[in-house]
Amino acid sequence: MSPTDNRLRRPERLAVIGAGYIGLPTAAGFADLGYEVTCAETNPTKLARLAAGQVDLHEPDLEDLVRRGLKTRRLSFVDHAQRAAGDASIVFICVPTPQAEDGSADLTFVESVVADIGPLVRPGTIIVTRSTVPVGTADRLRNIVGRRDVHVASTPEFLREGSAVRDFFHPDRILIGASEPVVRRRLGELYDVFGVPVIVTDIATSELTKHAANAFLATRLSFVNAMANICEAAGADVHQMMQVVGLDPRIGPKFLAAGPGWGGSCLPKDTRALAYVARQLGEPFTQLESTVRSNEAQFDRVVRRLADHLDGSVQGRRIAVWGLAFKAGTNDLRDSPSLEVCKRLVAAGADVTAFDPAVGAAAVSQLGFAYAETSIGACFGVDALVVLTEWPEFAATDPSLVAAAMSGDVVFDTRNVLDINEWTSAGLRLVTVGRSSPDPLNSSASANAA
Ligand code: UGA
Repeated sequence: MSPTDNRLRRPERLAVIGAGYIGLPTAAGFADLGYEVTCAETNPTKLARLAAGQVDLHEPDLEDLVRRGLKTRRLSFVDHAQRAAGDASIVFICVPTPQAEDGSADLTFVESVVADIGPLVRPGTIIVTRSTVPVGTADRLRNIVGRRDVHVASTPEFLREGSAVRDFFHPDRILIGASEPVVRRRLGELYDVFGVPVIVTDIATSELTKHAANAFLATRLSFVNAMANICEAAGADVHQMMQVVGLDPRIGPKFLAAGPGWGGSCLPKDTRALAYVARQLGEPFTQLESTVRSNEAQFDRVVRRLADHLDGSVQGRRIAVWGLAFKAGTNDLRDSPSLEVCKRLVAAGADVTAFDPAVGAAAVSQLGFAYAETSIGACFGVDALVVLTEWPEFAATDPSLVAAAMSGDVVFDTRNVLDINEWTSAGLRLVTVGRSSPDPLNSSASANAA
């Protein structure tokens, strides 16, 4: 579409506050759908790069989408929430809601943005939380705004990092939490274009549902990891087990891969935030608290098992780590299981050298371990290699090159992505999560990277 083509012009003007993992795909996505979108980003370096069409997030297709938005002039970037929100009819709040010391969600950024824009937005404006917020946030924001002519609503995002653009245009479902019919209608029209179920609820249900979805996913993974640990003790195979379990349509095949523990920018903080809210509400969520604890134990377990394969201790041992991002397809290190394991290895006296295809040396310079520029480079002279992120290039590496580079022979594949037969044939001792010895009839481990 040319910059002058007005066929797709939309009635609502959108503001998106925050150009992070949630805000940027939202802003650029809606601009692509024909809306005028102004996105506010306070970091001056990031702002200048965005205005020049440069995106630092490792997110497929996002840079193209941003450039397209800039070219059509439907997407623009400004340095302050007030400048974005003043002309908007719908304002999406996409600023971080980090975890506070006590496990609750820290709403400082959300509340300060809303306090800033509250007095100046036009009558009829809808302020929508898109960041994950605890139940009760909309009520707090309504009090902060203190205007009867401004609406507050919630439309939580369900994007996954690494597929945010795809998830924006092809969501599974849309959730709108709003009380007034006019707000429900206007937000409904915004999301109509996706052709997927749009569920409209009251705001409390919407806020709580996002937490429920992430808590459910985390619980599912902790369950799988617990079964993996039982498989190790019993000599059974968690991969085959989960293939069978996942064929039950009530369960489904996705999100069943055992690993070093789950992490990322959402699951850890959202599980803790929900557990905190539940305690505050007088309904302690003991099962979720145990899910969080068992995940911590899973990180410890990786170090303990590695030590077991290195004569009882990692102290003074040279360890190569493949993968630092919290999952493949992203360069995000927030609450990465890999960093949790690296931290524990360093604390136990190991000498760690890490490599990640998407994370540069600068990002790890403060973390207490060395960085290698290549995967094989990380392996020179090491006693053991630990695979902590499931990047496809790791599974595609020739194990004989690894064997030639290493001093020792222990390879701990915490993501179950390496082919057991191939890596064993190269003379390496492959340690896996919840997998028994190689099954000659089913040797492809890579299928586990679902
Ligand atoms: C998660 C949810 O999956 C999204 O639905 C949600 O919208 C998003 O949080 C959010 O709240 O913004 P994301 O944080 O991108 O998305 O990461 P996931 O793909 O869920 O992975 C989380 C962790 O679980 C990673 O450490 C990953 O390696 C691990 N994982 C995932 C496994 O260990 N096994 C699996 O089978 C799948």
